[in-house]
Amino acid sequence: MSVTRCVCARRTFADLGEAARTAGWTTVEQIAATTGAGAGCRSCRPYLAAMLATGCTRFAVADPGTPPRPCAREPWDAE
Ligand code: FES
Repeated sequence: MSVTRCVCARRTFADLGEAARTAGWTTVEQIAATTGAGAGCRSCRPYLAAMLATGCTRFAVADPGTPPRPCAREPWDAE
């Protein structure tokens, strides 16, 4: 299973990445303030930061304290 979205805001990283590029957002705070992604439970914030840094929108589940790693789509992933 891969991490592809902010569950609280119901927004995919693909969606949010495109919005960030269009709007010129460079921080998780900007994304959170504008879309609500990252403003709920905050567990997606490391993934949002990795998305901004790498442009990737799919990540392996990261252990606490370790940075998210981009990953490929698995056959069982929904999208
Ligand atoms: S999963 Fe993004 S704020 Fe909860």
